[in-house]
Amino acid sequence: MSGPLQIKFVKSATDVRDLPESPAEVAFVGRSNVGKSSLINSLANRRQLARVSNTPGRTQLINIFSVPNGATVVDLPGYGYAAVPGRVKKTWGPMIEGYLLDREELVMVFVLVDGEIGPTKLDIQMLDWLRDNGIPHTVVATKGDKVKSSKRPTRKRELAEACQLEPGDVVWVSSQNGANIDTLRQLVSAHLS
Ligand code: GTP
Ligand code: MG
Repeated sequence: MSGPLQIKFVKSATDVRDLPESPAEVAFVGRSNVGKSSLINSLANRRQLARVSNTPGRTQLINIFSVPNGATVVDLPGYGYAAVPGRVKKTWGPMIEGYLLDREELVMVFVLVDGEIGPTKLDIQMLDWLRDNGIPHTVVATKGDKVKSSKRPTRKRELAEACQLEPGDVVWVSSQNGANIDTLRQLVSAHLS
């Protein structure tokens, strides 16, 4: 048991040049509504640290959080939500790409995939892009509580396969019931210390 991460909100930014100095940074990326903000709240054991919403596309900026040693955690806007205003949508690609390519402090990208739905086309594109660019990443399957326990073994195998991974490479979590949140905390802490 490692206990909640002591995560504090630092700032929101649209450009990698506006980000604070950091000894190490991890980022959470994934399609809109996959549960990125909820997961950050779960890691911190706080309800409203990162804004959670039923309205997809709520997180439209790069939101930066810090842990006590000064290392940072980033909540990125979700991709694939068609109804964000045109202007916002147009800036999404360059903003996230620029961040992922240029942020030198970035040590690990956690790619969130909806455990109930499995990887979408955009998730696969994101994973391919990260692989092509040599950016370290780990797949986290979210909303594990929504998969019936009888279907879990099959679903775990299928999701991993669709991501070209072994089942043991994917961290399955649930922000709703706390499953594996502590495992992910330890993983995040290891990257940030
Ligand atoms: P954007 O900011 O729009 O990109 O979304 P996000 O990825 O930050 O998702 P967010 O955390 O706002 O969650 C989206 C919805 O999924 C909310 O209604 C959450 O309550 C729900 N949700 C998040 N995590 C879980 C989970 O583990 N289980 C279940 N059942 N629902 C979840
Ligand atoms: Mg969010």
